[in-house]
Amino acid sequence: MTEGVGTVDIRDLVRAYYPSAGVADAVVDVLARSGIDIDHLTVHDLAAVDQLHAGGAAATALVLERIGLAAGMTLLDVGCGLGGPSRMAANTYQAQVIGVDLTPELVVAANDLAARVGLEGSCRFLATSGETLPFEEHSFDAAMMIHVGMNIRDKQSVFAEVHRVLSPGSVFALYEQVRRRAGQLAYPLPWAVDERSSFVETADEYVAALTAAGFRQIEVEDRTGPVPGAPPSSGKIGPADILGPAYVEGVSNHIAATKAGLLGGLLVLARA
Ligand SMILES: C[S@@+](CC[C@H](N)C(=O)[O-])C[C@H]1O[C@@H](n2cnc3c(N)ncnc32)[C@H](O)[C@@H]1O
Repeated sequence: MTEGVGTVDIRDLVRAYYPSAGVADAVVDVLARSGIDIDHLTVHDLAAVDQLHAGGAAATALVLERIGLAAGMTLLDVGCGLGGPSRMAANTYQAQVIGVDLTPELVVAANDLAARVGLEGSCRFLATSGETLPFEEHSFDAAMMIHVGMNIRDKQSVFAEVHRVLSPGSVFALYEQVRRRAGQLAYPLPWAVDERSSFVETADEYVAALTAAGFRQIEVEDRTGPVPGAPPSSGKIGPADILGPAYVEGVSNHIAATKAGLLGGLLVLARA
């Protein structure tokens, strides 16, 4: 089913936000220009640019720790982007990771980058949306979703799919940007050029959607604080070098909205 705003499919708006070709090469070029030895790339090298969320690699490390990953566990990464969090999970915990994302060029790049750091055997990325997961029920030992729900209007349907493919009792970790108070948001934001593909909700709305999808023992933790990646003006490389001017402006707006108390980070742990 097509989920749209008027005649526009939200998924087309999300896909249009990201570069349409050559993303992995662009990542490697940025790293090369910063002096990194691209013939011996590591997951750590890639983490400067492949973590498309507030707080970067440190935030991902916290999410993975809270999941309680262990070697050999199967992990689903919903909305995997360039695959940075998935590669960290495979590299740090020897987990077997499958990432899904509705933007095909990011999926191509995620697989390419995994191969460049020797993780093609433990990380696999598929182009599909979180609303229709092509997996049997109870296929995964854990799942995560990092800065994706802001693009999803019907979160409950995605959460129900995640619940279906998780084994009973396993953890679903979400790290998202949420509404902290009412007020006008300035666009672009780092995940959308305008409100047609931006559905930022409150912590209570996340809990309600997870509960309705069958999750239980839901714990929420305010993670407002870290700025969304390296500020484009800092001189450090970051996702802005890959995603371009709309992302740069989006980061500025995101920082302003966070300072104004409109937006904040939320870590949620829920059990299937
Ligand atoms: C801000 S990026 C975060 C990427 C990754 N989780 C990370 O933290 O590095 C959001 C990603 O969610 C994907 N996305 C948005 N809506 C989605 C949906 N309904 N199903 C699957 N992926 C989705 C986008 O294509 C994009 O790659």
